[in-house]
Amino acid sequence: MTRIFSGVKPTGPLTLGNYLGAVRRWVEVDQHRADALFSVVDLHALTVEHDPARVRRLSRQAATLLLAAGLDPALCTVFVQSHVDEHTRLSYLLECTATDGELRRMIQYKEKSVRALASGESVRFSLLSYPVLMAADILAYRTDEVPVGDDQAQHVELTRDIATRFNQRYGHTFSVPKATRPAVAARVMDLQEPTSKMGKSHESTAGIIYLLDDADVVRKKIMRAVTDSGREVEYDPETKPGVANLLEILAGCGDLGGATGGEKPADPAALAETFTSYGELKRATADAVIELLRPVQERHAVLAADFGQVDVVLKEGAVRARNIARPVVDAAYRAVGLLPAG
Ligand code: AMP
Ligand code: TRP
Repeated sequence: MTRIFSGVKPTGPLTLGNYLGAVRRWVEVDQHRADALFSVVDLHALTVEHDPARVRRLSRQAATLLLAAGLDPALCTVFVQSHVDEHTRLSYLLECTATDGELRRMIQYKEKSVRALASGESVRFSLLSYPVLMAADILAYRTDEVPVGDDQAQHVELTRDIATRFNQRYGHTFSVPKATRPAVAARVMDLQEPTSKMGKSHESTAGIIYLLDDADVVRKKIMRAVTDSGREVEYDPETKPGVANLLEILAGCGDLGGATGGEKPADPAALAETFTSYGELKRATADAVIELLRPVQERHAVLAADFGQVDVVLKEGAVRARNIARPVVDAAYRAVGLLPAG
């Protein structure tokens, strides 16, 4: 059976970008068709300045939102990365496989390290090694597919290179995974700055839709989204990034086709033809996002009233994850020549 692994890091509250680029597909498609694991990858939140209490709160909130979005522990495994030691155990072996040069070429490292230095922060070593830990997250489960948004494609490519190199050097140990991306909304852009990604943490939150934003906040953010010059509703990400982003979001809110129907989302270019003004497009997009988020928010409210249930799911998930990862990581330890503990 196909093995799927993906994760979300608790560096901020989950956004519409997370949902359309990743989580929605995990829920509607991936968990039904494969042996799937989804993780709140909390260790990755420590690569930048963080407040411990906030990381704790956001980790729990992220796990709760994944369940509220519809991940079903009867169908897939949901767990917290730091609860399963195999990730860091494997990461070291992969640090001995990856090269300094390939890590320094990672776009996210280049961007984030420049930003950290500009704001007077030092760059943590873990920011550089982070894609190695991500590779360990994936390879520890002999993962075949990694459903992610566009921004993670380069990290999954690196994971493939590391797996291939390890297998060549030490004998076949890991599956070589491939990234899968959504057909639309693979890179949801900031509503105020439609040439940069909608990220969890931006200085201004006016362009970010959080999954737990109230309906009136969502509407306000979308109605105030930056659009482009001209009045024609056209899908052209180069010359009209703001309008293209709204069309992608609207298309991403449509039907995914489910587990068996295949992914047949609406085409943003075709959608463009159904609107005669930016205002009309914004209203339709706001309505669609509000409707999409409503059931998630309702289920979140129920689950958040009793975190006990969520904690039980996470505990069981960690046991399941550990049972899969343990023998794989043990095999990797033996393959590189480390003496078994007896
Ligand atoms: P992160 O929030 O960086 O942990 O991302 C979790 C998942 O959401 C990854 O698969 C990302 O590629 C995806 N993702 C994050 N932001 C966006 C975005 N703006 N558009 C599409 N996918 C996104
Ligand atoms: N690096 C990913 C991100 O920023 C999160 C992540 C960590 C991940 N480990 C992973 C995603 C393994 C997929 C598979 O979004």
